[in-house]
Amino acid sequence: MAHTKCTFIAIKPDGIQWGLIGDIIKHFEQKGFHLVGMKFLRASKEHLKQHYVDLKDSPFFAGLVKYMNSGPVVSMVWEGLNVVKTGRVMLGKSNPADSKPGTIRGDFYIQVGRNIIHGSDSVKSAEEISL
Ligand code: CDP
Ligand code: MG
Repeated sequence: MAHTKCTFIAIKPDGIQWGLIGDIIKHFEQKGFHLVGMKFLRASKEHLKQHYVDLKDSPFFAGLVKYMNSGPVVSMVWEGLNVVKTGRVMLGKSNPADSKPGTIRGDFYIQVGRNIIHGSDSVKSAEEISL
C-alpha cells in the first residue's frame, strides 16, 4: 500500500531521554498535520536491522542498531498534504552542520550519530509504516 499522504516519524532513544517528545509532537501538530497512529516501544535489534536494511553495508550500521535499541522509541504516523517532504524539511538534515535553526535537528542536536528523530525520506520509503 502506498502511503502517499502519510509519513513515519520516530523519536529516537536520545530524543526521549532529552525530554523532547512533547516538543516534537507540538511541532507537527502546530504545522497542521494529523497524528493518526502512535506506539511507544523498544525495537529489537532484528526489527531495527530490517528498518535500516538500506544502510546495512555502511560503517555505522552496527552502532546505529545499538543506539536505536538502547531505549524505547515513539513511533508515529503523521498525515497531511505533502507530509513526507515537508516532514523532512521540518526534521533538518542528517548532518548537524547542515541543519538550519528552526528545524528539529537544527535546534536539538549536534552529532550525526545522536540525531533524535527519524522521518521517511520519500513516499516510497514511507511504506516502512507497515514495519
Ligand atoms: O535519518 P536520515 O534519513 O536523515 O539519515 P540516513 O542517511 O538515512 O541515516 C540514518 C541514520 O543513521 C541517521 O539518522 C543517523 O542516526 C545514522 N547515521 C550515523 O550514525 N552516522 C552517519 N554518518 C550517518 C547516519
Ligand atoms: Mg534515511
